[in-house]
Amino acid sequence: MSPDWLPFFEWCEASWLGQFVRTSIWLFPVIEAIHLLALSSLGGAVLLVDLRALGLALTDQPIGALARAASRWLWWSTAVMLVTGVLLFMSEAVKCFHNPAFAVKIAALPFALGYTAFIRARVLRDDALVTGTKSRLVALGSIALWFTVAAAGRWIGFSS
Ligand code: HEM
Repeated sequence: MSPDWLPFFEWCEASWLGQFVRTSIWLFPVIEAIHLLALSSLGGAVLLVDLRALGLALTDQPIGALARAASRWLWWSTAVMLVTGVLLFMSEAVKCFHNPAFAVKIAALPFALGYTAFIRARVLRDDALVTGTKSRLVALGSIALWFTVAAAGRWIGFSS
């Protein structure tokens, strides 16, 4: 990460919010537990539809209807991930600055969000869509992007 960003990361860690989370014995683990719970809900909402789009699960369900039904879970879980992620980050921002896994995660996240909101949503919500090359490619892209974000997130803890 560019050294120009270090003052911002130092400011985040020194902020009252960063200190509040960092100096509490129980806040970081509780916030990380909520981050993980939201991850399981996000993972479920994404995989349920992507496995259907791959033709590997729930093949009696129309892809479009399933995508719409899972959409609220997907975006509410994402909102919780973003809020809890920022709180975790504020408490250990300088560690994240020096952590390549955090850089990979924060670089991949906008792509995962943009792809999900503008490409995957548009393609998979089509009621006429049946399992085929188009649905499979879109699902594989989604799984690859969210896996990258989640794996990098997990690696932050391993690589520090
Ligand atoms: C919505 C997308 C996100 C996903 C899928 C995600 C995924 C993860 C995962 C899997 C972990 C590891 C948890 C563990 O096993 O202990 C994690 C931890 C973490 N995430 Fe996220 N995250 C997301 C958003 C964010 C955001 C937006 C930030 C900050 C701006 C963030 C910052 C962190 C930090 C600092 C940790 C703790 C690392 C440690 O253990 O020290 N996350 N995330």
